Amino acid sequence: MEHIELEAKKEIGSAKNSQELEALRIKYLGRKGRMAELLLQIKDLSNEERAQRGKQINQLKRELEELFEKKKNEIKNSESNKNEKIDVTAPGRALPFGHLHPRTLILRQVEKIFQSLGFSVVDSSEMETDYYNFQALNFPKDHPARDMQDTFYIDDELLLRTQTSPNQVRYMEKHNPPLRVIVPGKVFRRDASDATHESQFYQVEGLMVDKNISIGNFKAVILEFFKQLFGKEVKIRLRPSFFPFTEPSFEPDIQCVFCDGKGCRVCKNTGWIEMAGAGMVHPFVFKSAGYAPYEWQGFAFGFGLDRLAMMKYKIDDLRMLNFGDMRFLRQF
Ligand code: DAH
Repeated sequence: MEHIELEAKKEIGSAKNSQELEALRIKYLGRKGRMAELLLQIKDLSNEERAQRGKQINQLKRELEELFEKKKNEIKNSESNKNEKIDVTAPGRALPFGHLHPRTLILRQVEKIFQSLGFSVVDSSEMETDYYNFQALNFPKDHPARDMQDTFYIDDELLLRTQTSPNQVRYMEKHNPPLRVIVPGKVFRRDASDATHESQFYQVEGLMVDKNISIGNFKAVILEFFKQLFGKEVKIRLRPSFFPFTEPSFEPDIQCVFCDGKGCRVCKNTGWIEMAGAGMVHPFVFKSAGYAPYEWQGFAFGFGLDRLAMMKYKIDDLRMLNFGDMRFLRQF
């Protein structure tokens, strides 16, 4: 028995894999194994001796069983480690990243283009006074042009700005000409919302003041702007219009980028899309800002930023920009 014990422990300890171990288990613990043989041999002993021997043999059997179990686990662990192939060079699983909102994307492009043309980008306030939003821009208190911009008034003097144009005067009050700035920001109108109107939307105000500035300069700047934004030459036309703070006033249209001017649903079959209000700065506005009105000339414009996003990304419902619908936003 001692001999078997020594031999078994040695062999189990050095088993290299599960097949070897299984063969050993049969050799020692199998039905016809060494332990079974030992048990057979005790049948000739006296009762007393047999009981004692039997006990010892069974104890050794249990000991060996435990030893097999332990070794089996050891081998299992090392074998499964070997079989599991980990490719340490494989790229990790990509986590879903957030990204910029289409309105932010378009705004960054607009800012970059105007900066490349020498314009500074200026921040501004969404709350305005009646004075800057209207009076300084040549809309007196009783002027009918105020009707064009249904206003959210906070009290007699304060309002949510209806346009970014008040920053023309605000900027000129603090800076001397010549100057080139754009002022992007949110504006508010008491308007019902539909596919092309919202009560909150974004404008980009632009202002260039220098000596000998003409409509030609304006055309050159916005042609270059559209060319860079859309990545191709875009036809424009200037339609005469009216704004109290520009003279003359016009509205630049661009040829519809959806149908290249052939006429479609988006341009209502006209081939053109209204993009902005613009004009030559009215002498009244220079006076409001404290500039000598006939010494300087300038042009000003106000783009609808959401409309630019619609054109650039071919979005046919402006309200999508405000819904926060992930199915829409994930496409950018
Ligand atoms: N502020 C005008 C509007 O919201 C747009 C506009 C027209 C801006 C003419 C300008 C401009 O700077 O010169 O309807």
